[in-house]
Amino acid sequence: MGTKAELLNGKQYAAAIKEEVAQRVERLKSETGIKPCLVVVRVGADPASEVYVNSKVRTAQDLGITSEHRHMPAETSEDELLAVVLELNEREDVDGILVQLPLPKGINESRILEALDPQKDVDGFHPVNAGRLSQGEPALVPCTPAGIIDMLKRAEVQLSGADAVVVGRSNIVGKPMALLLIRESATVTVCHSRTKDLAGVCSRADLLIAAVGVPGLITADFIKPGAVVIDVGMNQLEDPEEAKGFFPDDQLAKRLRTIEKRGSTLVGDVNAKAAMEKASLFTPVPGGVGLLTVAMLMKNTVEAAIKRRATRGAANSGG
Ligand code: GUN
Repeated sequence: MGTKAELLNGKQYAAAIKEEVAQRVERLKSETGIKPCLVVVRVGADPASEVYVNSKVRTAQDLGITSEHRHMPAETSEDELLAVVLELNEREDVDGILVQLPLPKGINESRILEALDPQKDVDGFHPVNAGRLSQGEPALVPCTPAGIIDMLKRAEVQLSGADAVVVGRSNIVGKPMALLLIRESATVTVCHSRTKDLAGVCSRADLLIAAVGVPGLITADFIKPGAVVIDVGMNQLEDPEEAKGFFPDDQLAKRLRTIEKRGSTLVGDVNAKAAMEKASLFTPVPGGVGLLTVAMLMKNTVEAAIKRRATRGAANSGG
């Protein structure tokens, strides 16, 4: 069977979002003198987190947003991290706070996330923001699902009335993704590790979103012909034999070279060969959803700055 899916180019959609953010930052500065500020907190030496955080800090700077990287040692205690969060909550110049996950073992993530000022919670992980999203109220929304909705709208994918299936129920992607799709009037099914007949459920989806962290879980029988398939997975594939069934012919040689050189290659939750043969639109890994997440973080930071400073202005002038 020949290749027929069109690729949704995350880099191109992320560039469009970043361009709009840069213009808003510029306007905000010239009209009000406000320069938004993002602080990213990282604890320990997880190599993937280091790459993500560096990308977030660099992108902010590129768009005219002030950014700070607080790197704390792996031995940091929960109380020490909590003290940093509380200090950043109090800082008038800080608009957005992001605590990079995962945190080292022994630190209670929920306790840290719940301590964040919801108005500065640019990840949208605080229960106040999660609750507001579930009630259809304005909120800071988690960046990956928000970026996916933004891209689908720009690509003019019909969401209203679409049968959408989300595989994965995490607080970071699966659950907020489902809520955002409901807001767009899609009919939403959320699947997870206990779902019976996962392939059968997925194969009825007009829009299939995979966010489980299982390399290549989504194979040809999971994909309805012509479906839009969004791959949120970020996994390492090491086995060259497995790679042979994973990639379309035109990508395989390059992927095998990467495995030979680095020991592994970055793949998603979707078998790329199957998606290219059956889907109408497909997000590649890398080059798909990952880039949107960072772009939406910048958008959330500017929105947080505008909203918080407007509220504070109103509170100050209220008499
Ligand atoms: N780790 C993986 N993805 C994310 C994210 O979107 N935000 C934070 N804070 N940590 C992450």
